[in-house]
Amino acid sequence: MNSGVQDSGFPMEGDPPLLKLEGITKRYPGVLALDRVDFDLRPGEVHVLFGENGAGKSTVISIAAGALRPDAGGIEFRGQPIELASVHHARALGISAVFQEFSLVPQLTVEQNLFLGAEETAFGLLNKSALHERAAEILERLGFPLRPTQHVAFLSRAEQQMVEIAKAFRSELSVLILDEPTASLTHRETEQLFALIEQVKAQGVGIIYITHRMSEIRHIGDRITVLRDGRYVATVDAQTSDDELIRLMTGRVIDQIFPKVRYRPGKTILKAKNLTAADGTVTDVSLNVRQGEIVGLAGLVGSGKSEVARACFGLLPISRGRCVFDGEETTGLSPRLMLDRGFYYVPADRRDEGLLMMRSVRENIALPALSTPDFSRGPLLRRRSESVRSHDLAKRLNLQPLRIEREVDHFSGGNQQKVLLAKSLTRDVKLFVFDEPTVGVDVGTRVAIYEFIRDLCEAGAAILLISSDLPEILHLTNRTYVMCRGVLAAELSGGDISQENVLRHCFERDAA
Ligand SMILES: Nc1ncnc2c1ncn2[C@@H]1O[C@H](COP(=O)(O)OP(=O)(O)OP(=O)(O)O)[C@@H](O)[C@H]1O
Ligand SMILES: [Mg+2]
Repeated sequence: MNSGVQDSGFPMEGDPPLLKLEGITKRYPGVLALDRVDFDLRPGEVHVLFGENGAGKSTVISIAAGALRPDAGGIEFRGQPIELASVHHARALGISAVFQEFSLVPQLTVEQNLFLGAEETAFGLLNKSALHERAAEILERLGFPLRPTQHVAFLSRAEQQMVEIAKAFRSELSVLILDEPTASLTHRETEQLFALIEQVKAQGVGIIYITHRMSEIRHIGDRITVLRDGRYVATVDAQTSDDELIRLMTGRVIDQIFPKVRYRPGKTILKAKNLTAADGTVTDVSLNVRQGEIVGLAGLVGSGKSEVARACFGLLPISRGRCVFDGEETTGLSPRLMLDRGFYYVPADRRDEGLLMMRSVRENIALPALSTPDFSRGPLLRRRSESVRSHDLAKRLNLQPLRIEREVDHFSGGNQQKVLLAKSLTRDVKLFVFDEPTVGVDVGTRVAIYEFIRDLCEAGAAILLISSDLPEILHLTNRTYVMCRGVLAAELSGGDISQENVLRHCFERDAA
């Protein structure tokens, strides 16, 4: 069996780069997404693409992976000019990408997804059992805890991502492209991915890596290319300081990422008592959230932290326990009714449940507010007030480009996240539940989102912040619950909310 990696030998001085993009330009109607961008990838390096939301990172890799054709510019692969006709063509050359938005077929199993489209090429007429074996082998080599026969529809986002990554390894690999791969991975899965990256690096594979997380750059990066507004800014060493990177990225200096919050805990808004979900993801969880505080809900992917909120919001059936919202029994009420009472849940999955991708930003932002007075003064007036408010909100969250009539689908990943957040601001809300609010957003936007959460808290809202981003939990919350395998492992407050404490409780039941 081949090892899944092309034997290119060790990189030698004077070798041509694996991949070279020169003067790449890409236009969308009304947007110059890339303006003469240069980029090169050496064998055995991790080359990070860095830049604000909408800077053009995903566009660069879509072109490198054959998913998108440039309007101008050239591509060389191992010193030879090539035209990448399709993703399939690129894969055949050993260039494989894991995109921000996955391309899995939910109705199929892991193994069927792994070899989708490749059945006839690399593997001839492989029969079912051979496919099964090959899939099992790849998953095992990568250390992914998946069964080949599992249906993708039942996998978590992190697990689906593993399938996407495994897909890249189904044939010979010389360029691996990862677009924010850790956005939905846990600490441990991230470590695993990094180990994997080290392993393929040593075999001469070049990796293009997109991330908004500074710590990752330092950890696995070799070189960084910074893009701003579709233009090439610089290529620097991965040891370049955070301040310098942020300056290159934004053109300005940001000194404070986390704002100082003045908590004023008041009346209890949400109270869950011995909550147990019918599907077994949550067992016997009791917690409360008061006005004027930001309560964290930390834990690994699969620990049940999202499910607690989803059960309280009526998205997940409860088999035992109760929910009290603003003093009233609300156990088992539908999301619609919870929303009317002032419970707003901002889901982690913007594509599947958060946004209508084919509708405009304005329509998405205005949607939850349709029944509130300001938006229901007759169609004409409504449209106008919708526009004004949507525009204000979009501006406040620094939507790029600030075009509210544009379809959400046409915005970059981080900008879609901003639309999702803006949506929550159009109603009278007592409790905001933010589920991974900063996944995929750049540092500048992160600051805007944190300030926005602080403002809500200081204005007296109750906030539940569900996050796998530790710094976020440490800096923003005044109390934090830690979930581990469906149960509450700890409640920490004030100075006890430390990295060490949170992590210890995330893992402690694992060790037992
Ligand atoms: N299908 C599309 N139609 C129109 N414009 C698009 C489309 N896809 C991307 N764009 C625009 O191209 C520019 C670059 O987007 P791209 O997705 O490459 O950004 P990015 O750097 O990956 O951002 P993020 O960090 O948010 O993922 C943005 O201005 C975006 O709005
Ligand atoms: Mg992107």
